[in-house]
Amino acid sequence: MKKESLLIAILIITFQFTQAQTIEKVANGIWKITYGTPEHHLPTEFKNPTAFSGLNKMPAIHVAPVDVKTIHFKQMSKGVLAEMKVDTSERFYGFGLQTNTFDQTGMRREIRTNSWTVGNIGFGHAPMPFYISTKGYGVLVNSSRYVTFYVASKGKLDERVRNKKENQKEQKVVLNTVQLYGKAVTPSNEVSIQVEGTKGIEIYVFAGPEMLQVMQRYNLFSGGGGIPPMWGLGFKYRGKATFTDKQIQETGQYFRNHHIPCDMIGLEPGWQTASYSCSFAWNPKNFPNPSSFIDSMNKNGFKLNLWEHAYTHPTSPIFQKIAPYSANYTVWGGAVPDFISAGGRKVFGDYHENNFVKKGIAAFKLDECDAADYTKADREWSFPDIATFPSGLDGEQMRQLYGLLYQKTMLNLYHKNNIRTMFDVRASHLFAAPYTSALYSDMYSHADFVRMIVNSGFSGVNWSPELRETSNDAELVRRLQTITMSAHMVANCWYLSQPPWLQYNIDKNNNNELLPNYKVLEQKAKKLIELRMSLLPYLYSAFAKYHFDGTPPFRALIIDYPTDKNTWKIDDEYMMGESLLCAPFLDSSSERTVYLPAGNWYDYNTNKKYEGGKEYSISMTLDQIPMFVKDNTLLPLAQPVEYVTPSTVFNISCKVYGNPATAVKLFEDNSSNFNFEKGQYNWLSLSWKGNNGNALRTGNFKQQVYKIIDWKKIAQ
Ligand code: GAL
Repeated sequence: MKKESLLIAILIITFQFTQAQTIEKVANGIWKITYGTPEHHLPTEFKNPTAFSGLNKMPAIHVAPVDVKTIHFKQMSKGVLAEMKVDTSERFYGFGLQTNTFDQTGMRREIRTNSWTVGNIGFGHAPMPFYISTKGYGVLVNSSRYVTFYVASKGKLDERVRNKKENQKEQKVVLNTVQLYGKAVTPSNEVSIQVEGTKGIEIYVFAGPEMLQVMQRYNLFSGGGGIPPMWGLGFKYRGKATFTDKQIQETGQYFRNHHIPCDMIGLEPGWQTASYSCSFAWNPKNFPNPSSFIDSMNKNGFKLNLWEHAYTHPTSPIFQKIAPYSANYTVWGGAVPDFISAGGRKVFGDYHENNFVKKGIAAFKLDECDAADYTKADREWSFPDIATFPSGLDGEQMRQLYGLLYQKTMLNLYHKNNIRTMFDVRASHLFAAPYTSALYSDMYSHADFVRMIVNSGFSGVNWSPELRETSNDAELVRRLQTITMSAHMVANCWYLSQPPWLQYNIDKNNNNELLPNYKVLEQKAKKLIELRMSLLPYLYSAFAKYHFDGTPPFRALIIDYPTDKNTWKIDDEYMMGESLLCAPFLDSSSERTVYLPAGNWYDYNTNKKYEGGKEYSISMTLDQIPMFVKDNTLLPLAQPVEYVTPSTVFNISCKVYGNPATAVKLFEDNSSNFNFEKGQYNWLSLSWKGNNGNALRTGNFKQQVYKIIDWKKIAQ
């Protein structure tokens, strides 16, 4: 090609590229870049309205944090490619609820919903096409398709050639595959994003200036964080799948007789006449009189939660009506409701509302909405990517969105009835922050479970590192501690006859052989559950903050300490609320290193003071919980109640750590309904001056849920 024609060709390409993308500022610090013609049913279509009130209180940002004009888009035969130049010093986090990795720099992330994390390629219960950078910005691809990110991991030819020093080094021949392939990838200065099967995409860019503000903006754009009912933050227990009404009542009585707090009992598959797929009908053999059963449990202070999934069995009372609003493929022989079609939502929703929500069922566990493990081709139970749905989505898009749409449909039923709830759910996607549910898994690595708490703060979801069986006393206590320090405190005993602290071995548990020291372990479990109940006002207020200003209640240290490079790799410590740093002991360990960021910290158990900015080797007995209190904290701790009701009053002792102690605000409302959305709430502001504590209540909620009974000076 001649020089001139080459120049013209370049000009045309540049012109086309600049023509094809549009840039729009959609809210304070949030930009949308559109390239080509994106498809229908993008995740934003299902998003709650943006919480502009919160966003407008944030620092005003006038210029996008990355030069959005330089994002390079290209239509490929497969779909759309977007390339963004990055700085080789920046690190990347997020991509939803990732299991195996914290720092995602140098990784390939394939965003695909999957019930079991396969390898380390990005699959999981709630992977999301959204990442954030240490440079204080976030990038979101608004797509319900499988999206692949090459996170500064693929060096291009021109870079390698320019990188002369590297090429001139003498290369050693290696003689084993570990050395041969074990090297880190060539770092690149580009994040490349590929969305297949589309003719256009939308990218959202979120400004900071720091990572915390990126997350706040994302959560507020999603509609603000959901505030669970107070009981939803208490202790929850799920009974064995085969249990009858009597056995569930006995389980409840066990908790009350031993004064072990418990707010909710979950029924697993056996409550239905068919469960794989689901009939959504009470099994008359196990539950002959559902309404008197519900009444008796409610009278004893228990909320009931029902396990189900959406795949509808041919014997279900709704099967005939839901079939026309379902996919053209089945799962476990059941119809797969299309939650985008209004008809599908109505049939499924009306039935659940009339038969369960209005009859006193307080919550649901929405299982199996995350699609089967890809590697088990002979046992792949989910609908295939080639499925089609009446709303026009294909199986791939629905696979990504199914957990989100199912949650939304079911949570709306409670909202409509002005009842607050907290669900368990096994899949989610973008913009889920307002949903009061927690994700869970059949996987069970303690290290992964803790990393998922850490990663949950990058994606607007709650994560439940549930307790099941264990292999020894120490592991039981350490896992109990981890659930105490999480968004959702659950013992999921769906295959156990007794709580695991009475017997953690599965077979022995089911043979009613109790551990010789079960009384000791029962006391340890009780103490931890009581600690959780003490933390309720503190945790509840952290969720209120999530709602109003978007701050994730559980988050990686890097979010609070972005300039401290020591936090950039820490995936086993996290902040819970404003002032508590949690550093769980994994498995049965009692020793670990703990990095404490700048400032002073106090061991929650002993009040021992630690100077921050350092790493410590910490050992703790099984009676000590690895929680550190930040200096200058006023920590409100309630006397534990056995369960929460709308008239519960929390008697609070305020612990004062350091001088001066920063004022703290407790959120007060009727935590079982949505009246706070109409402004019916108070803030109880606690402050400490000289040697005196002060509590100031503002707002128009009439009832007083918190009573401050004393102030305890811990350290000055
Ligand atoms: C699994 C779920 C478990 C339990 C079980 C009952 O899919 O993850 O927690 O509910 O189903 O069959």
